[in-house]
Amino acid sequence: MTWIVEKKRSWAEWVALRTLLVGPIPTHLAVIMDGNRRYARQKHQDTLTGHTQGFHKLAEMLGWCRDLGINQVTAYAFSIENFKRSKQEVDGLMELAAEKFEVLLEEQEKLDKHGVCIRVVGNLSLLPQRTRQMAARAVIATQQNNNCYLNLALAYTSRQEMTQAMNELVDGVQRGELLASDISEELMEECLYTRGSKDPDLLLRTSGEVRLSDFLLWQSGFSCLYFTQALWPELTIWHLFGAVFYYQRHHHMLVAARQLCLDQRECVVEEQDVECCRIKYGDKLTQEHITEYARGRENRIAAFLASLTQRRLSYLQQLACGDE
Ligand code: FPP
Ligand code: MG
Repeated sequence: MTWIVEKKRSWAEWVALRTLLVGPIPTHLAVIMDGNRRYARQKHQDTLTGHTQGFHKLAEMLGWCRDLGINQVTAYAFSIENFKRSKQEVDGLMELAAEKFEVLLEEQEKLDKHGVCIRVVGNLSLLPQRTRQMAARAVIATQQNNNCYLNLALAYTSRQEMTQAMNELVDGVQRGELLASDISEELMEECLYTRGSKDPDLLLRTSGEVRLSDFLLWQSGFSCLYFTQALWPELTIWHLFGAVFYYQRHHHMLVAARQLCLDQRECVVEEQDVECCRIKYGDKLTQEHITEYARGRENRIAAFLASLTQRRLSYLQQLACGDE
């Protein structure tokens, strides 16, 4: 089963699509693909068949997103909590993921044609060796594509993501690359696995559960949350249309709330610079001191982030070669 599903839309689907395209469209959609096992039970199938149908649905949904112009999707494929499930299910899911990454590598030409970039977010060290090797290869093989992005959250929870980000910052301070006062919301964000991704505009969860289950807690503070009763493998393009319509109805308020947060964030950094300069220069503080200090802080942060990027890339390359 392919990652790129090309399907003709029915007349009714095209009319709905054209109508929605008149309004604002989320550029980043996050999905919690829930309900695979209940679906399998209803159909008298085994659990792994349910998850395989779940993968097919993800591939199909990416086609709907392409038609709508949603160019970034983040999908919760496996939570760190999911390791507590039976060994048979965990092994089956890990093998399914490895197999699908292999298919992806065989289909690379198709992915390049559509400009699809795959990123994996999560603690890759928790995955079995074959799965993390295939995941790393898929990420490296598609990293030059920039038309649309699929972020797969694998061995992911937000708490673990935030903890590793804090550890990166602490290490940066201990190595002398950063000052403790350089730490800000913006810098913390740059240390998350989702670095470089815009926050999701719309977060969709299937199966009637109405919680976030430790998914993108930092990133979804200003996202529109949409819950549907449909089990993940049952999802249709009409459910996605419903979610986008819901987003359009709330779009105005979401944009205003996010902007307010960004404005406040800038003020906090400026105030922090002034505070640091005041400690250093006391009464002799001038505007030039503040400008110079801000430039120094920006340079420190740029160097720290460049080294973080390099470390992450080397780690991925090591995983891809199986050279760990
Ligand atoms: C949640 O349903 C789903 C999962 C834990 C797994 C989702 C994984 C996929 C759709 C495949 C991903 C593929 C790749 C290539 C990474 P559930 O198991 O919690 O079902 P339930 O809520 O009915 O118990
Ligand atoms: Mg579930």
